[in-house]
Formats: sequence, C-alpha cells, structure tokens
Amino acid sequence: MDWGMQNRLSNIIKPDTGRTVMLAVDHGYFLGPTTGLEAPGKTVEPLLEYADTLMLTRGVLRSCVDPNTDVPIVLRVSGGTSILGNLANEGLTVSMKDAVRLNVSGVALSIFVGDALEKQSLLNMAKLVDEATEYGIPTLAVTAVGKEMVRDARYLGLACRIAAELGVQFVKTYYCDGFEKIIENCPVPVVIAGGKKIPEADALKLAYNGIKKGAVGVDMGRNIFQSEHPVPMIRAVREVVHNNMTAKKALDLYETLAEEEKKKSRRKSKN
Ligand code: R5P
Repeated sequence: MDWGMQNRLSNIIKPDTGRTVMLAVDHGYFLGPTTGLEAPGKTVEPLLEYADTLMLTRGVLRSCVDPNTDVPIVLRVSGGTSILGNLANEGLTVSMKDAVRLNVSGVALSIFVGDALEKQSLLNMAKLVDEATEYGIPTLAVTAVGKEMVRDARYLGLACRIAAELGVQFVKTYYCDGFEKIIENCPVPVVIAGGKKIPEADALKLAYNGIKKGAVGVDMGRNIFQSEHPVPMIRAVREVVHNNMTAKKALDLYETLAEEEKKKSRRKSKN
C-alpha cells in the first residue's frame, strides 16, 4: 500500500488500537430528512469529539460541518436514488477531484449483490477503486443497504468478499449469526453498521459481539443519533470498540453519563 493510502487509512482505523468508531450521518442521501438528522450540523456537533471518522455526503459536509474540524471524513460518493425508487440503481455522485478538494480520508459507496443491478453497482465500485487509488484514497464498500436484502452470513460473506476481491480497502456490513465466517473469508478490515434503532443495551451488545468476532469497529448512525442520549451512547460505544469493554459495563456507563446529562439540563432549566 502506498504512503498516502496507508496514511489516510490510519486516519480512519486508529493505529493504536487497530479499531474505529465511524459516525454515520449519510442517511439523507436516499432517506431525505431522517429522524435525528433534521438539522445535521446540530446533531453532529457534540458528537464530533468522540468520533474517529465522520461518514456523510458532500452537501451536508459543506453546509453543516465546521471546516476547522480535525475529524477525518469518509465521503459517501454513491446515490442518485431515493427510498421511493429502486435503491440499487445508484451511480457515482462525486468526482474524485471534488473528494480531494474536500480533503477526505476515504470514499464510500453501496453495492447491491444479488439485485438485478448488481453488475452496475459492482462496476461502479471497481471504477471508484481505480479513481480513488490514483489519489491514495481508501474506498469503503457498503453492503446490503435496503430492507429487501437478506442479512445472513452466507449473503453478507459473499458481498464482503466480492468487494474485497474488486479492490476496496475496507468493507461495511451487518452483524449476524456466524459473523466470524465473514471475517475469516474477507481479506480486508470489516466494520459493522448499527442498523435500525434498537434499545441501547442491544446496540451495545451488537457492537461488543461484532468486535469480539473480528470487526475493526462500527460505522454507526441511528443507534447513536436517535438515542435519547447520543453523547453518552457514542462514549459507551467507544469503550466497547477501543477498550473491549463488555456490553454490560458499557450500558452502565451509558446510564451513568445519561443521568449526569439529565441532572445538568435540569440545573440549567432551573437557572
Ligand atoms: C446507509 O444508509 C448508510 O450507509 C448508513 O451510513 C449505514 O446504514 C450506517 O448507519 P446505521 O448505523 O444507522 O445503519
């Protein structure tokens, strides 16, 4: 791997632990005003100091994120579809020139293995890998977005392996039974998405299990920004990812921090 590529990848996957907490707020690219992201700048601002990487679109990056931030950016560069249409019918939405201008550490696109449009998405990915590699920018393949996608180890393993074979530097997928098989068969690092909002205890278990079975981190969105207490949640997730904290201890931490937050806001509203 060349120096620039390795350097950018180490902005994302932290060399001291070999892990990463990516904060995903790119949902609007096909979901529009997602719950919790109505004002993305406001949502992201208090979370930034706990995120190793921010994953989002160039529109939100430009209009809602302070350019003085030192948080590395993974830019979503695929889209062109909405929740109302066929999600798999994506194309590339950002030129590499603009990605470089935005000083990104990585670029991300979705692939739709198993869909009638799988070839299109895989060829888009191969093209992106070619272009990004020219600039030393790592590519992240996002697998299995969309509710019609099966999320078992066989399918996710297939999608992750194909992405790796076509040259991406890392892959995002979902945690599932037999997750260790996906890891065994994928020669590049794997991060797990959080998926739909679930109780904090379950999201922390998901993160813990994913890490235990070999994921290098999470690329988590809704289970952080839709939590009643997003900052305590991302801090608890960080402990699981970087310090191998158990899900039970992380939940205790979340509850303690959430309680402190509530006390603070009660004091504020009294004054
Ligand atoms: C798909 O909409 C995006 O790539 C999200 O970034 C991804 O699904 C992770 O977010 P969440 O944890 O909310 O699933």
